[in-house]
Amino acid sequence: MAASIVLPFLVLLLASSSLSDNIDFTYNGFKSAATNLSLDGYAHITSNGVLQLTNDSYKVTGHAFFSSPIQMLLNTPSVTPAAISFSTIFVFDIITVGNGGGHGFAFAMAPTKTLNGSCCQYLGLLNKSSNGNSSNHVFAIEFDTVQGSDMFKDIDDNHVGVDINSLVSNISKPASYYTNNSKMVDFELESGQPILAWIDYDGVAKILNVTVSPLSVDKPSRPLISYAIDLSPILKEYMYVGFSSSTGKLSSSHCIMGWSFRTNSVARSLDLSHLPLPPQPAKASSASKAFGIKIGVISSIATLLLVALAFSVSWYLWQRAKLAETLEDWELDYPHRFPYKDLYKATKGFKETELLGSGGFGFVYKGILPRTGEEVAIKKISSNSRQGMREFIAEVACLGRMRHRNLVQLQGWCKRNEDLLLVYDFMPNGSLDTFLFESEKCGMLSWDQRFKILKGVAMGLAYLHEEWEQVVVHRDIKSSNVLLDAEMNGRLGDFGLARLYERGKNPATTLLVGTLGYIAPELSRTGKPMPSSDVFAYGMLLLEVACGRRPIEPNTQTEQLLLMDWVRECEMRGQALDVVDPKLGESYVREEVELVLKLGLVCSQSTPEVRPTMRQVIQYLNGDDILVDDVGALVFSEADSFDLASRKSYPSSINMVSSSSLSGGW
Ligand SMILES: *[C@@H]1O[C@H](CO)[C@@H](O)[C@H](O)[C@H]1NC(C)=O
Ligand SMILES: *[C@@H]1O[C@H](CO)[C@@H](O)[C@H](O)[C@H]1NC(C)=O
Ligand SMILES: *[C@@H]1O[C@H](CO)[C@@H](O)[C@H](O)[C@H]1NC(C)=O
Ligand SMILES: *[C@@H]1O[C@H](CO)[C@@H](O)[C@H](O)[C@H]1NC(C)=O
Ligand SMILES: *[C@@H]1O[C@H](CO)[C@@H](O)[C@H](O)[C@H]1NC(C)=O
Ligand SMILES: *[C@@H]1O[C@H](CO)[C@@H](O)[C@H](O)[C@H]1NC(C)=O
Ligand SMILES: *[C@@H]1O[C@H](CO)[C@@H](O)[C@H](O)[C@H]1NC(C)=O
Ligand SMILES: *[C@@H]1O[C@H](CO)[C@@H](O)[C@H](O)[C@H]1NC(C)=O
Repeated sequence: MAASIVLPFLVLLLASSSLSDNIDFTYNGFKSAATNLSLDGYAHITSNGVLQLTNDSYKVTGHAFFSSPIQMLLNTPSVTPAAISFSTIFVFDIITVGNGGGHGFAFAMAPTKTLNGSCCQYLGLLNKSSNGNSSNHVFAIEFDTVQGSDMFKDIDDNHVGVDINSLVSNISKPASYYTNNSKMVDFELESGQPILAWIDYDGVAKILNVTVSPLSVDKPSRPLISYAIDLSPILKEYMYVGFSSSTGKLSSSHCIMGWSFRTNSVARSLDLSHLPLPPQPAKASSASKAFGIKIGVISSIATLLLVALAFSVSWYLWQRAKLAETLEDWELDYPHRFPYKDLYKATKGFKETELLGSGGFGFVYKGILPRTGEEVAIKKISSNSRQGMREFIAEVACLGRMRHRNLVQLQGWCKRNEDLLLVYDFMPNGSLDTFLFESEKCGMLSWDQRFKILKGVAMGLAYLHEEWEQVVVHRDIKSSNVLLDAEMNGRLGDFGLARLYERGKNPATTLLVGTLGYIAPELSRTGKPMPSSDVFAYGMLLLEVACGRRPIEPNTQTEQLLLMDWVRECEMRGQALDVVDPKLGESYVREEVELVLKLGLVCSQSTPEVRPTMRQVIQYLNGDDILVDDVGALVFSEADSFDLASRKSYPSSINMVSSSSLSGGW
């Protein structure tokens, strides 16, 4: 009885070294390894001994496994199977021609060496239907150079991750290593330089360590990933061990130059000085040179013809290259994408004559879509990091689903290198500010139209704040962001764009987005945009529309410098109507103007908590609710809480993205 209990423990103690077939191999280059490796797909061994998993063809996969299965579990009767320790070292090189390669490769253990995995994000390991299924028994360390679609939850496009039965990593870290004083140094997996990787699993402590570093650096003493995991339920008794890789629309050549693997002990070091050199990226052909020689030989007429031909061909090629799409894989995952070619044609090649204006976020062009003949406005936003771009497009795709008669409809987007193009409904009447301030259009806007526009903007803003599936803070409400459709309805533009500036920024330095004069005072303290800060800006807009004046007018007497203060003073003196836009003359509805002025002051109070919500604002504007009449009291308490001194320091103390007021619309 006793013996039968003790025996399994003894077995377990002895197990790790004596009861498994220990494996130990080292390949400094793979010239001699052809018979020991099973290759499939695009994997092959080059003439100088590099194991190339894929070349840079699109959407291909390649596998290379050690031919014989390796015992990875101690499977003794009556004892739970335990994964045994292993250690591996390899040198790899990811070579990309042009910019942005993919999709990476993985060191893998699988129950079969004939994996039927998909390309691209699946790295040739799994496919859409098998991904995440625990019956896969696939364990991998991924070296991923593409940030896949949302379902893969990739942290970036340059990371190392631990994958268990799924390409959604259980843990991943940006490619980097720790120096001896624990400083983290980032590097590019795709740099074209050889990189060393160490993977060590301790079957007793059940710790998996992954370390990577450029070849030029000594082995970092601290691993990049140290992950507590019991591989016993994941591995099968015998596993195939090797590499798997795939390319997608982005492609690289994935090469392994040396590999050593050992169970139950530390893998033997590679002889770095004897590793084969990775293949050189293909050079451009010398066709054009040969072409030039021919020209010299042929008669002068032919030469002229050839030159003309060459010119038109190269012009055609240049034109085609200019319009060619370089899609990243994920781009297809988001709806409302426009082909760049269409937008290029629509704007006659982003010609200056088609320029409508330059809003705070970039240039806006008028365009006519070639397929439908529809008029659109195309906003071109430049120089954003590739990193933030993807998240932003996810959001843009989301904004595209918003529908409201007081929002400028976002029809779609297109990404072109570092540029983001947004396609909006065209607003034939341009922006509100031109009607308020530009001499040609001044005085063309009646009070009724102004009141209708203000109500419309309130409804659009209430939709963003309260009616959509998530709260969207506009962050840049102002007259130049209010656009007018053919029926002179006010529609909000640029919603959701402020987020663009938050991406990839150091969270410690808050970037204040907005326009001077419309920025709620609490924003400079908290930096946290809230619906109430939009209400503040809306209050300024109310005053602006009633008074026909910008919130800050530097060229006036001091007491009129800030519109809000001036209105407040007149309100306190009981002479509110003094501030009304002189261009309106006497043709306005007195009660409505008074309401708008009071509401403007109520909305732009410096304490965010006491500002009304946009829903309440609509009720006041519709006369469904009566605005409390003691605005005067309210106005008094305001005056000292927001003194001139603090205002004066605004421009210098705030790191601000201010939207241009030169916009002339959009
Ligand atoms: C590799 O294959 C050769 C020939 O099949 C064999 O003799 C050798 O033992 C194998 N090497 C390893 C490490 O298994
Ligand atoms: C990649 O390899 C395939 C098969 O070996 C070959 O046909 C193709 O030309 C190669 N492509 C490149 C870009 O080297
Ligand atoms: C996915 O992989 C599994 C397991 O290798 C295979 O049985 C299945 O046929 C594959 N499905 C597709 C669609 O390729
Ligand atoms: C992989 O699976 C697909 C779908 O099941 C099948 O059509 C294909 O033949 C398989 N390929 C291999 C190499 O087994
Ligand atoms: C996991 O794979 C097994 C075997 O291929 C299959 O029977 C099972 O339905 C799959 N489970 C899920 C959740 O897809
Ligand atoms: C790894 O992650 C997958 C999904 O994220 C989860 O189902 C699985 O349990 C995790 N495995 C371990 C061992 O933590
Ligand atoms: C870190 O320290 C270890 C021993 O303490 C040393 O062998 C190694 O070379 C050092 N690595 C670097 C990058 O300095
Ligand atoms: C894994 O890393 C940890 C932390 O550096 C270390 O204590 C442990 O010994 C390592 N284990 C193996 C198997 O390398």
